[in-house]
Amino acid sequence: MTDYGDLVGAVDQGTSSSRFLIFSTKDARLVTFHQQEIEQKYPNEGWCEEDPMEILQSVKTCMKEALTKLQQLNISPDKIKCIGITNQRETTVVWDKVTGEPLYNAIVWLDARTASTVNQLIEKTECKTKDGLRSLCGLPIATYFSAVKLRWLLDNVPAVSKAAQEGRCLFGTVDSWLLWNLTGGRNGGCHITDVTNASRTMLMNIETLQWDDQLCKFFGVEKTMLPEIRSSAEVYGTLTEGPLKGLPISGILGDQQAALVGQLCFKPGQAKNTYGTGCFLLMNSGEKPVQSKNGLLTTVGYQLGPGKPAVYALEGAIAIGGACVKWLRDNLGIISTAPEIETLARKVDSTYGCYFVPAFSGLFCPYWQSDARGIICGLSQFTTKEHIARAALEAVCFQTRELLEAMAQDSGIPLRSIQVDGGMTANQLLMQLQADLMGIDVGKREKLGSFFK
Ligand code: G3P
Repeated sequence: MTDYGDLVGAVDQGTSSSRFLIFSTKDARLVTFHQQEIEQKYPNEGWCEEDPMEILQSVKTCMKEALTKLQQLNISPDKIKCIGITNQRETTVVWDKVTGEPLYNAIVWLDARTASTVNQLIEKTECKTKDGLRSLCGLPIATYFSAVKLRWLLDNVPAVSKAAQEGRCLFGTVDSWLLWNLTGGRNGGCHITDVTNASRTMLMNIETLQWDDQLCKFFGVEKTMLPEIRSSAEVYGTLTEGPLKGLPISGILGDQQAALVGQLCFKPGQAKNTYGTGCFLLMNSGEKPVQSKNGLLTTVGYQLGPGKPAVYALEGAIAIGGACVKWLRDNLGIISTAPEIETLARKVDSTYGCYFVPAFSGLFCPYWQSDARGIICGLSQFTTKEHIARAALEAVCFQTRELLEAMAQDSGIPLRSIQVDGGMTANQLLMQLQADLMGIDVGKREKLGSFFK
């Protein structure tokens, strides 16, 4: 029997699914995992919500099922020494600390309902531009970030504003929602977030790493509803129920920052791109925040312990990556499974002038245009679903190339290679198109043999 040594567990709560993964501390090998899909609700044009209770329940189910699989391998759950949480970022949850009930569905990061809130907020800034708060939080005013969603909730959902007035409303990104519940909920759950998640709210000062008075005042948010900001690696609390009861929760990182760490991008200039629901290119930029002049985001990459220096990253975020393939499957029905897109796209050697801009939730980096919407153009009678499939893959690559160019300008470091991960990297055609379009090496760490040049 393989000796994995002590084990660690990781909750990975993403946009489309939750997973619980168990790793060996000996060689970081994945021992087993369980995954469950999450339902996304689209109640209005541009809106995207998830049920916070479903998110929580899916995490509990994944933990339970992964432990069953562990026992089937004849490994005792006692071998697991601690767990960490990584999560979809910016997604906003508000709940009642007395009842423990969510006050509204989670507003997902790519939800674009706050386009008019964004315009009102821009008008409130001194310079009346979307970059009016950048020097404080490193981010443009956009539908993407949590404070904008929280402002919408306070303005539009009476249950939220009432609970806020009565001091019962707690706010959190998904890490906080999970941590609070897993550590006891209304019976003393820890209301904490880590610096990487806090850096996506627009409420944290990017230099001091604390909630910023000016930003809280600007968004009209009381600090009492915000979680405490801690480092990404420390014990926050212990699990209060289930088969792992008593185990410490000792790490939190937003999922894209977790990928940066997982790809060992510990030196300034090292970068990774994750092809998930969206696409996220992060480059380690060292211990000082670098302000972007090219529409990128300044974010915290990680802080590996209290008192340790925070390491920053420049980020290029694209809202629609893998979600575009899902749309071709679920809305157009031109494929029945996501991997089929590669087979279809390979049947043609070019899109012959067909372009797909999947701006379903507006455009993120570098444009920050919330009212943009998707388009497929260059169609002729010659165009087939094969060309559209290929155009969808090219769209992901074109968008990533724009991020790369912005990053080279902001950092002064031209990237020669990037590490890639995420579900879409199984698509060999996509990876080759990406390498061809950027003219750099695109590498997958888990398969060192597969390097696209
Ligand atoms: O910023 C959003 C990002 O964290 C979502 O990641 O992998 O759930 O699409 P993912």
